[in-house]
Amino acid sequence: MANIKKINLPKLPNDIVIEILNNNINGRNEAFDNHPDEALNFYKWVSANEKVQTWCKENISQDIHWGIQIIEKDLPIHNDLGTLAKFNYVIANGGNDVVTNFYDDEKTLIDSHNLELNQWYILNVEIYHNVQNIQKNSKRISITGRIMP
Ligand SMILES: [Fe+2]
Repeated sequence: MANIKKINLPKLPNDIVIEILNNNINGRNEAFDNHPDEALNFYKWVSANEKVQTWCKENISQDIHWGIQIIEKDLPIHNDLGTLAKFNYVIANGGNDVVTNFYDDEKTLIDSHNLELNQWYILNVEIYHNVQNIQKNSKRISITGRIMP
């Protein structure tokens, strides 16, 4: 089974990208609402504001609560609790060598991908994965969503 799939959906228009960068990435971190003990100060999940939410609902899917993920440092190996698959659309890559890796149950690397900017993907987040090679003082910013809020 592939752990990543490129999907053909509309690209975000420039004004939506600018809206995200200016007004969304400093919002409240909802990432650890259910797991406060796991809080990492370099991982953020912020609900998209109304303008961005409306665009994503109208152009991608009505049935998803859209959010912005901001990663400032490499993520440890983990799997996403309660989520099997996730939309991901990178608008700032955090460095040219950033890779998204997938691992088997023994945490052996099975798959490594350098995601393209401005491209929709579906990622398998049920299995172990991480993000590596984020450049110092830079941010990796993507649009993502909760299918089961
Ligand atoms: Fe994850």
